[in-house]
Amino acid sequence: MNDRAHPHPAHPVEPPGWSPDSWRNAPATHLPPYDDQAALARAIAVLRSLPPLVTSWEIERLKSHLAEAQDGKRFLLQGGDCAEAFHECRPEVITNKLKILLQMSLVMVHGGKKPVIRVGRFAGQYTKPRSSPVETRAGVSLPSYFGDLVNRSDFTAEARRPDPDLMLSGYQRSALTLNFIRALAEGGFADLHHPEYWDLSFFQHAGLPDDLRAEYRRMSAQLADAMRFMEALGETSVHELTRVEFFTSHEALHLHYESAQTRRVPRRTRHYNLSAHLPWLGDRTRALGGAHVEYLRGVANPVGVKLGPSIAPGEAAELVRALNPSNEAGKIIAITRMGAGHAAGALPPLLDAISGAGLRVLWACDPMHGNTTTTAAGVKTRSFDAILAELEATFDAHAAAGSRLGGVHFELTGEDVTECTGGAGGLTEADLARNYASPCDPRLNYHQAMELAFRVARRLASNASAPRGV
Ligand code: PEP
Ligand code: CO
Repeated sequence: MNDRAHPHPAHPVEPPGWSPDSWRNAPATHLPPYDDQAALARAIAVLRSLPPLVTSWEIERLKSHLAEAQDGKRFLLQGGDCAEAFHECRPEVITNKLKILLQMSLVMVHGGKKPVIRVGRFAGQYTKPRSSPVETRAGVSLPSYFGDLVNRSDFTAEARRPDPDLMLSGYQRSALTLNFIRALAEGGFADLHHPEYWDLSFFQHAGLPDDLRAEYRRMSAQLADAMRFMEALGETSVHELTRVEFFTSHEALHLHYESAQTRRVPRRTRHYNLSAHLPWLGDRTRALGGAHVEYLRGVANPVGVKLGPSIAPGEAAELVRALNPSNEAGKIIAITRMGAGHAAGALPPLLDAISGAGLRVLWACDPMHGNTTTTAAGVKTRSFDAILAELEATFDAHAAAGSRLGGVHFELTGEDVTECTGGAGGLTEADLARNYASPCDPRLNYHQAMELAFRVARRLASNASAPRGV
């Protein structure tokens, strides 16, 4: 078939007036205040010359998976740290991140009876938007800490000075992380029948309600059976059956870093951001006409868009149109993060304005960022119950609207941290001090993340068994 004779939304053209650097003419917020422009230009030039971290083929593959998820044939699991730190670019930390995503995805595959797309918030999630560009302590004001890609967290003038060379260090750590992820995914990490990767003993925990405990036990017994069955098929088949695929994502916040790695590749007509498969637009930088939207509207990658409680439904629809003018399938992931108290009220008009208008998006829920609270002792936390409540309310809103929740977005870690309260382990505010490791937002720990995966699986299972068209 001739594409020119039959223009197809799968091959949209580059938007007029766009280039990887056109964002420079739009108002920008949350960009680092570099004081040495010559050093910034030098770092960008080096970054432009280095090999890409991902390829356009992988990006297009992810997009086609996401298009299938829009049709209900796959489910998206996106998760990882709020912010990666350079000092955590270590083998055991990376392995644990893959392990938790893999285990959660298996539980969801089991519940939904469909493949799960695994996307990590890793290999580039090194910058953070801050509520104030300046931090003041004891009368001393310094630039805020914007993430390891920009400056250092120590409260000294030297550490807080934005240093463009940190972009190169971030690129290198992303490459090291990704190299290890690729090697693990190819070479045996997916040995799913290995008990070390499949320890579900936590579901015995006394804090769980009886019905859930019984359900978890049933599900894990079935999963163990499936693993044994695959094992019985022989090594080659196991490898084939269990080969795992991971994609990378980060917030496309640092536009100098993003645009320096945005390229046209041979035999393709559009530009790709080759620093990650899936860049996303944060809730604080989604202003129409702003630099972040200008940058993201032109890249061929799939793009996530965070939608918080302050967005008006009409504005959200306009944003989706701006980012996906040809209404391409698999292109936009609309990630709602309303907060448990707002989801039921805010979602119906939003779903109507977007899905009701025929705009193609994959709906996902981030039940983390609308549910952040601060304890009396000043510790940032999130309650498992609020996270679960937003997730349940979001599933309900989609069911009522006739749309489909096709993915989830979590801040989580494979480590045994104490940052969110609640869950079957019954973590309380008093427990938070025990192992609070996040420099940024509180993450679900291993057990809390697995418990949520079971809850999602339960909803997917009930959707999977619902009559067609319901
Ligand atoms: C994030 O995902 O870390 C984040 C800052 O989210 P949001 O833009 O939704 O607030
Ligand atoms: Co966060």
